[in-house]
Amino acid sequence: MVKDVTVNTTEFFRDPSVWQAMKYRLLPKLHSQKNINIWHAGCSIGMEVYSMEIMLCEAGLLDKSTMYATDINADVLETAKKGIYGHRNAQEYINNYNKGLCVNPYNFEERINTPIQKYMDFNEREDTIKVKQFLLGKTTFKKHNLVSDPNPFRGVKYDIILCRNVLIYFNQTLQNKLFGEFWEMLVDGGTLVLGIHESILGPWANKYEKKGLLYTKKTQ
Ligand SMILES: C[S@@+](CC[C@H](N)C(=O)[O-])C[C@H]1O[C@@H](n2cnc3c(N)ncnc32)[C@H](O)[C@@H]1O
Repeated sequence: MVKDVTVNTTEFFRDPSVWQAMKYRLLPKLHSQKNINIWHAGCSIGMEVYSMEIMLCEAGLLDKSTMYATDINADVLETAKKGIYGHRNAQEYINNYNKGLCVNPYNFEERINTPIQKYMDFNEREDTIKVKQFLLGKTTFKKHNLVSDPNPFRGVKYDIILCRNVLIYFNQTLQNKLFGEFWEMLVDGGTLVLGIHESILGPWANKYEKKGLLYTKKTQ
């Protein structure tokens, strides 16, 4: 039934402006930290997870990051672990990567010239996009139900929680419950990243500082 009711749509570097915001507004704050914990809640087939790994790699932060990813659907997690996808939307992913990671919206003269092929093998004939081996196995994937299960990685506090395009399917009461749980699981000053059509309303709104698409945990 889970497979029938869950929507698994995802993309590499989905909504490039979110990736720009994370790259320029969030990552610089993390450079001085020893470790960075990141949780993708509702990760689907893992494209968001590998996008994050690529961004961290470009920023020189991948080696000190510990990445966790969960979903209610066991099948999507199997695909996520393998990192092999169809080729059909390749051009869209390349465009997202260029916009989200290579262009600096604050300085158009500066850009990253790393080709996406450093991170993935594209094979149109075989109809595959394969995430490169060095990015596989870095993220711990686990089945988890956001509605009923506690922190999937007991005791871990996260610097970043991405829960994008998941809460949109939940009612307000459930969203409020999760905004509270995410707040508890974030480190002080940690950041919750939502989808572009999602926002924190209700009782938890004043517990986060909203900066564009990023919600930073406030402690007072
Ligand atoms: C639309 S996808 C979003 C994927 C990715 N975060 C993105 O934005 O591209 C939503 C994902 O949330 C998962 N999901 C739905 N309900 C869930 C729940 N109660 N607990 C955990 N994951 C859930 C679905 O299985 C699906 O893979």
